[in-house]
Parts: sequence; C-alpha cells; structure tokens
Amino acid sequence: MQQVKGVIARSKGAPVEVVTINVPDPGPGEAVVKIQACGVCHTDLHYREGGINDEFPFLLGHEAAGIVEAVGEGVTGVAPGDFVILNWRAVCGQCRACKRGEAQYCFNTHNATQQMTLEDGTELTPALGIGAFAEKTLVAAGQCTKVDPDARPAAAGLLGCGVMAGIGAAINTGAVTRGRSVAVIGCGGVGAAAIAGSALAGASPIIAVDIDAKKLEKAKSLGATHTVDSSATDPVAAIKEIAAGFYEGAEGADVVIEAVGRPETWKQAFYARDLAGTVVLVGVPTPEMKVPDLPLIDVFGRGGALKSSWYGDCLPTRDFPMLIDLYRQGRLDLDAFVTEEIALDEIEAAFEKMHHGDVLRSVVIL
Ligand code: APR
Ligand code: ZN
Ligand code: ZN
Repeated sequence: MQQVKGVIARSKGAPVEVVTINVPDPGPGEAVVKIQACGVCHTDLHYREGGINDEFPFLLGHEAAGIVEAVGEGVTGVAPGDFVILNWRAVCGQCRACKRGEAQYCFNTHNATQQMTLEDGTELTPALGIGAFAEKTLVAAGQCTKVDPDARPAAAGLLGCGVMAGIGAAINTGAVTRGRSVAVIGCGGVGAAAIAGSALAGASPIIAVDIDAKKLEKAKSLGATHTVDSSATDPVAAIKEIAAGFYEGAEGADVVIEAVGRPETWKQAFYARDLAGTVVLVGVPTPEMKVPDLPLIDVFGRGGALKSSWYGDCLPTRDFPMLIDLYRQGRLDLDAFVTEEIALDEIEAAFEKMHHGDVLRSVVIL
C-alpha cells in the first residue's frame, strides 16, 4: 500500500477536494499506474453533482495516460514502465459479444477488485472504475492499453474517453468513409472529435452545427468544410442544402452525429439525415429525457438506421494504438483538444470553464 494525492467528491454537490488516498499494491490481474495527465470530462462533474449514482466519495478522473508502476500476479499484457492509456472497457472475453469476435460491444467489463480508500479507511468509488485525478491509481490490467511512448501524455489521455467517443461515433458507429456527407450537431470536445474522425475517414462535406461561434471556428480547423450557427439558422434546412451539393433528391447527410445529448437536437439530426442515412447519438442524455414524439412513418419511410454510440464503439486494444500512430504521423491533431494544462487543485475552476463552454478539454498534468 502507498499514499498519494487524489481529487475526491465527498458528497453530493460539494466542491472537489485534494486529499491523501491509500492505493493498494496490485493484486492478481491488477496494475498500479503513475498518472501523467488526465482530462476533465462532463462525467466527472456529473459524478460530483450526484447525477450518476450516490456511491460517494468518488475518486474522480478517467481520461488518462501514464506509466505502469507495478503489476499483480498473472498479468501478462502490460509490464512496469509501459506507457498506457486507461480505458473503461476492459473486455471480459466470455460474453456473447466477445465470443462472436465483437468485443467492442462487451458490456461485461471489469475494474480492479481491491478498493482504494481515504486515510480513515472509507472506500472510494473510482469514476468509471478508473479514478485518475491522482498521482497513482489502481486499475484492472485490462484497463491499460499500451501505445507509442513518444506521444504527449496530455493528448494521448484524451483518447481514454471523450475524444475516442467522438472519433468512434464517426468511424465505428457511423461507419463514415471517403466521400460520405456528415453533419455533426454540437461541437464541444465530443463533436469536435467526431469532425476530426470524419475528416480522417475522408468524408465530404463535413458540416459542423453549433450555437457557439467559437466552437464553429475550432470545428473548421479540425476539418469541417461548412459551419451552421443553429442559433440563427434552421440547421435541418441548412444541412439538407449543403449535403445535397450536386446531387438531386438528397434529403440530408449520410451520417448525422448528435453530440449534445438533447431531444431537440436529436430530432434535428433525425430530420437532417438523407434517405437511408444514419443518425448516431453520442451526446449523453439525462435519464429523464425521452425520444421525441415522431410519426413512425417518418422512421420507416426514410430507411437507414438510428444508432447510439457507447464509448464510440471502441475496442481500446484495436483503436488506441492506431489513433496514436495517426497522431504521431500528424494526421490526427489530438493536441487541438488540449485547451489548457492545469494542476490537481484547479479542477473545480475547470468545471466552471466547462460550464461556460470556454474549453474543449482542460487537462490535469501530474
Ligand atoms: N444546438 C447545437 N449545439 C448545441 C446546442 C444546440 N441546441 N446546445 C448546446 N450545444 C453545443 C454547445 O455549444 C457545445 O459546443 O454542444 C456542445 C456541447 O459540448 P460540451 O459541453 O463541450 O460537451 P462534450 O464534452 O462535447 O460532450 C457532449 O456528451 O458527455 C456528454 O454531457 C455531455 O451532453 C454532453 C455531450
Ligand atoms: Zn465480453
Ligand atoms: Zn469522460
């Protein structure tokens, strides 16, 4: 066991605190990782607001990269000294999805067995089974994915959650390929990543939609070919017009990605897809939100698919090393997502900035 600094949410709505935590030595199948960088995500704020569950206190942070310090018995996939990105999809290998060779749909994922605790022995709940706003954290070895150690930790760590969700919504769930038209509604961290992923896949046009002009500027720099300010313009009509281009009869974009997580914007996505097009929901709705009341004939009559993208349908062992290689080759600008680097005691301020839409990602450097 060792003691390190970590950031916890002690009770519902209370500001986060930097405290000393106990990190057990890794047991069978576990690893202790020395964290180098961890992005601040909406989900961390949702935990501290009590919007996910009430298993306080939480050890926050889950978009992280670092170096494996020690591994427990039976661990063969990673070794001390490896540079890894942490993931919340350590696949089981046993469920139906895993057995049929589609582990990206494994929902039977696992975390460390032992618990990290406060100094008084109170058990901590690590955010998404990770808890990486800490100098060191304990995870299941399967939550560590080895990637090129020359990657900048602040950029690499972002693949652990929001940026992977966005890229994956485009290239995995939406199956975006060369020449396909894509519209992305909501261009925060996740939507901007969906734009970068669409550009990587060769999509055209790539239409960015947001109500915030700053986000649209950023979207352009990441590969959007057109922008629509939906606070001033009807986004459905605008997407239809741009996506049609030279084609007669096009009814919208081949793939429309909703990265806000609201019924109104999902409805816009629904009506902005082309015939036989795909809608991908990657924005996270609240439990109270309902699918908009739509004529079933509109679902049926347009063909295509209405999908949701859970963690960008990513398979960390397949996707993380590939995307880091593309980043290293200069073909995927992960640095563009790092708006600022901050210290462990600046997370509360980062939540505030996130609220005002000032950042794509604040990243804690350790
Ligand atoms: N139409 C278009 N864009 C909108 C609208 C709207 N009605 N409302 C908000 N937006 C934009 C915001 O301006 C912002 O750029 O959506 C974007 C949301 O981005 P972020 O707040 O940075 O959130 P992000 O990290 O990208 O996550 C997207 O998934 O994790 C959840 O809670 C998160 O629901 C959010 C979504
Ligand atoms: Zn499985
Ligand atoms: Zn996240």
